[in-house]
Amino acid sequence: MKYMSLLLLFLSLASHAAPDGKALYEEKCSVCHSYRGEGGIGLPLTKEILSQISDDYIGRTIRVGRPGRIMPSFNTLSDAQVGAIIRYIRSWSGKPGPVFKAIKSKGNVARGKPLYKKHCVRCHGQDGSGEGPGTGVTQSRERSFMVMPAALNNPGFQQSASDAMIHDIVLSGRKVGGMPSFKSKLTDQEIADVVAYVRTLEPPAPKQGMEEWRGKPAYIMESPYDFETTVENVKQALTGANFRIFPPRYLEQGLTDEFSVNTRQISIRFCNFKELYHLLNIDPRLGTVLPCRINVIERDGKVLVISANVAQLATLFNNQELSEVGVLMEEIILSVMEEATL
Ligand code: HEC
Ligand code: HEC
Repeated sequence: MKYMSLLLLFLSLASHAAPDGKALYEEKCSVCHSYRGEGGIGLPLTKEILSQISDDYIGRTIRVGRPGRIMPSFNTLSDAQVGAIIRYIRSWSGKPGPVFKAIKSKGNVARGKPLYKKHCVRCHGQDGSGEGPGTGVTQSRERSFMVMPAALNNPGFQQSASDAMIHDIVLSGRKVGGMPSFKSKLTDQEIADVVAYVRTLEPPAPKQGMEEWRGKPAYIMESPYDFETTVENVKQALTGANFRIFPPRYLEQGLTDEFSVNTRQISIRFCNFKELYHLLNIDPRLGTVLPCRINVIERDGKVLVISANVAQLATLFNNQELSEVGVLMEEIILSVMEEATL
């Protein structure tokens, strides 16, 4: 009991110590935004930009991240830790951030649409993804900046930015990234209209994969062959599809002692390194779900071949390019499974 109360005392002391914003920033953010916000993989957080974005926006951005656009969500940080990071970032400019009213803009979507097409599409793209030829990647960004113009259709951006903040950015532009100021080109009402239109931008629906398997967490096929033959068939089909196969594992390996492991449940792990490299470039979080595996299980006299539904897994990342790869992977894995059970 005594130890318990000491522990509690220690925990309450520890949680009252103010978190170190600099240390947290350097640990969590500097890889992408550099040590003093010079930018890199992440957008620059320079004085100019800090004067345009509110603490509220930075805090929300830290919390929700930018799904599918590299920036992770840091949803396990405490409010105090997020606050400390914001204070540290603010210390670079020595000025408090702007505060924007939360009220909705009085813009008109229908009037905003043609204005967006005329003034914003060339850099931010039709759909606001900031991608595609002739966008800011090549036109407006210095070559040393690796980041494309921020994706305005990103749910992380949409959830973090207020109408008033977007209005202000359009009004002032962003010198660092080459975004012009629209002060002399658009009236206040026209900017409000563009903002209203920007609010309607959404990421394209992720590609879904084959109808037959949609909504199912796994592909499952019954094999007409015995267990050993089925395992061999899967390996052969994988090799035929140019995959490298890792030593197989029993499904229960590590979960139970070695004498009671069910040897009639095997996980065949495989990978195509070129593809893997490509996938990691699209979304580094994929490292946690790879390599791919196909399981062969004998249960109640039946031999089953099972794989996770990769097309569905890929949609979780909310990244169009990735869901396309997921659909492609689905096709390959299903053909391997079909070949092995034919
Ligand atoms: C793995 C890389 C990565 C890490 C780590 C990362 N970011 Fe980002 N961040 C990005 C990218 C990329 C963007 C731009 C996203 C886009 O294109 O829409 C971004 C955008 C932002 C923005 C929006 C900037 C603007 O101009 O609107 C803020 C603010 C931000 N990050 C703060 C942080 C903070 C604070 C941390 C640490 C807690 C952090 N980021 C960690 C990559 C990262
Ligand atoms: C010449 C290219 C260019 C044009 C034209 C342009 N932008 Fe940008 N915009 C950028 C770049 C590049 C960035 C990222 C700049 C940075 O953070 O350094 C950006 C950033 C933004 C941001 C901040 C996003 C974020 O996550 O921080 C908003 C909002 C925005 N632009 C809206 C618009 C709107 C609306 C229009 C049309 C009225 C427009 N832009 C026109 C290049 C452009």
